[in-house]
Amino acid sequence: MRVIQTVEQLQLAITNDGHNKKIVFVPTMGALHDGHLSLLSKARETDNAFVILSIFVNPTQFGKNEDFDKYPRVLETDLELLESQTDKPDLVFAPGVDQVYPEGLPEQLVPRAGAVGSVFEGVTRPGHFDGMLHVVHWFFSAIKPDVAIFGEKDAQQLYLIRRMVKREFADQIEIHAGQTVRDADGLALSSRNSYLSTEARKIAPEIYRTLIKVQAELQAGENFEQVLDKARLALSSLPLAKLDYLALVDKATFQPISAGFTGSAQLLVALNLDGVRLIDNITFSIQELA
Ligand code: PAJ
Repeated sequence: MRVIQTVEQLQLAITNDGHNKKIVFVPTMGALHDGHLSLLSKARETDNAFVILSIFVNPTQFGKNEDFDKYPRVLETDLELLESQTDKPDLVFAPGVDQVYPEGLPEQLVPRAGAVGSVFEGVTRPGHFDGMLHVVHWFFSAIKPDVAIFGEKDAQQLYLIRRMVKREFADQIEIHAGQTVRDADGLALSSRNSYLSTEARKIAPEIYRTLIKVQAELQAGENFEQVLDKARLALSSLPLAKLDYLALVDKATFQPISAGFTGSAQLLVALNLDGVRLIDNITFSIQELA
């Protein structure tokens, strides 16, 4: 496993060591956990893979009042963890801000996330998806991967990346999605879980429990508006909690669905727990939404 910091080293490594191999790319912001590691295992499913993992805390996807400064940066620990894995990457690319943004942070971020970037996560985090798409576009252009791997945990991000690959990369990068990895009690792993107080951590599994309950009720044919209202009330009533959104969308379009819908539905949630914003989602099929 080689660790590099510059675009020049990256390009040399790809030309020399990635030659005749499938370039498989796993982007991260570090503070690695089992969720990230599961994406590395998925990366190895591609035959003859040259696996590149990036670690970069991207300033343009953080809002002014967000946690960019306090976001955990633990490169040494991350590298030790990676080194101990069977499915370790061939290359770790950990550029500094000056490599990704040599002319300073851009005023205009491209490509734009558009309307889908302004709903759900985009309401609370305006500009977040523009910054995210910008940096992923930058990495894709520098690495030119055959395959890139993202977690289902960030459903809106995954949707926007798939759309960007269609629009900007002529669908030439295969996007593979990794299932959400959870703690034993159901809480989706996240680098931000380290911010949770002991008390908040105890309550956090209620998020996933609620999602599963909603799924069961919807699949049993209960009225979706009533089911969602009941679940919103339950989540809002949790101690220390402030519900941001609970929404049901069509996985294919990311648009809210209503009665009569048939197909793959995604149930999305964002909850603020004692000042820590947690997101989660599950996907399930619906025969006919009641
Ligand atoms: P980060 O939050 O570090 O996540 C990196 C990747 O790990 C993303 O694809 C994310 O969906 C996935 N991931 C996070 N938690 C997971 C879990 N519990 N189970 C499975 N996969 C999980 O997402 C980002 O970084 C950034 O926005 C990035 C794409 C790197 C662009 O800056």
